[in-house]
Amino acid sequence: MSADAEQPARLLIRDLSQIATPAGRTAPLRGAGLREIDVVEDGFILCADGRITDIGSMQRLTGLTGDLVEVDGRGLSAVPGLVDCHTHACFAGDRVEEFSLRAAGATYEELHAKGGGILSTVRATREAGEAGLAAALARHRSWMLRAGTTTFEAKSGYGLDHDTELTQLRVVRNAGGVPTWLGAHAVPPEFVDVGADAYVDFLIEDVLPDAASLAVAADVFLERGAFDVEQARRVLSACRAAGLELRLHGDQFTESGAIPLAIELGARSVDHLESTGPVGIAALAFSSVVGVLLPASALFLDRPMPPARALVDAGAAIAIATDFNPGSAFCESLPLVCSLAATQLRMAPEEALAACTVNAAHVLALADRKGRLAAGFDADMVLVADDDWRHLAYHLGGDVVHTVVEGGRIVSTTRA
Ligand code: NIG
Ligand code: FE
Repeated sequence: MSADAEQPARLLIRDLSQIATPAGRTAPLRGAGLREIDVVEDGFILCADGRITDIGSMQRLTGLTGDLVEVDGRGLSAVPGLVDCHTHACFAGDRVEEFSLRAAGATYEELHAKGGGILSTVRATREAGEAGLAAALARHRSWMLRAGTTTFEAKSGYGLDHDTELTQLRVVRNAGGVPTWLGAHAVPPEFVDVGADAYVDFLIEDVLPDAASLAVAADVFLERGAFDVEQARRVLSACRAAGLELRLHGDQFTESGAIPLAIELGARSVDHLESTGPVGIAALAFSSVVGVLLPASALFLDRPMPPARALVDAGAAIAIATDFNPGSAFCESLPLVCSLAATQLRMAPEEALAACTVNAAHVLALADRKGRLAAGFDADMVLVADDDWRHLAYHLGGDVVHTVVEGGRIVSTTRA
């Protein structure tokens, strides 16, 4: 069936070689729990009205009647729809020119300092207008969906003025994404003379009152050349008081106090962590903050990988995500990120799957209905093009996503 055809309310996927899902009902998973994947061989999944209503072994499937679409799952395996909990997918233009300069030796931080980098995407995003930005996000969203992402977060942070920041949040929300306000991504040209503190005042006084009703969470880029701990604390404390969940970009290039701040403020996550050392690892492991690891970004910038194995072994809750953006990770594929987790982060395929399903859903406060294949959960799933689900991580850059189901509807399929 074509992905756009009218589909009735019930969907049965039958004769699946495997159904693989993170075990249990709690979130986030950590330690040995991160490896526990329940696998049903030769199974079915029944969906109605956007939810999974039954799931189990084919032996248990009795005659179903009525209006029903049946999908033949032979040779395929099902995993939960993938959850991308950290993207910057709402941007206009691209940075392919900068990519070429970096290939010739320029560094990401040098390009940023010269007014390129994030600021060049800010110029393109301000010029795009709401319709242009919505079209760009729709294009990026279609890539993400084809790669198996059924739930995505996307940050603002390419507007850096009142109106464009709000436009970004609205566009993400209208596209069905989870919007995060990242006004504190960079200091915009208008504020360079007056400084980052004045920009932080502007964000809190002029933008936050409107952003708070559009966004689910707030984020800050805590880094040398961006915002320091005190500025991040001011922004995030005000956001928390306005009812937003908190996220934090931290320890990407330098270990700069992001983990203690995330713990102090009760953030949902601290993201990147390429530069995190033993003290930060231990602190995160004893906290409820999730470490979101972004290996595609480390690869794309040729930076050290985050200390994933040490974090998992210490007991930290971790998630993995793409960081999809035009500068540091032009990559929308969570299956590729799973491959990087297995090959570069020394994570088992089981840990990688839990990290981009249930734990990513927890970061977005959606773990009660997303990130697992179980009755009552949203009918979001990926049918992997092999009878062993681990091909999701094993097939590096391969065509592993056969069919994507979102809310009980087939939204992408390679089957004619
Ligand atoms: O997560 N580090 C800051 N922000 C993004 C990159 C954004 C960009 O380069 O446009 C990141 O890597
Ligand atoms: Fe990011």
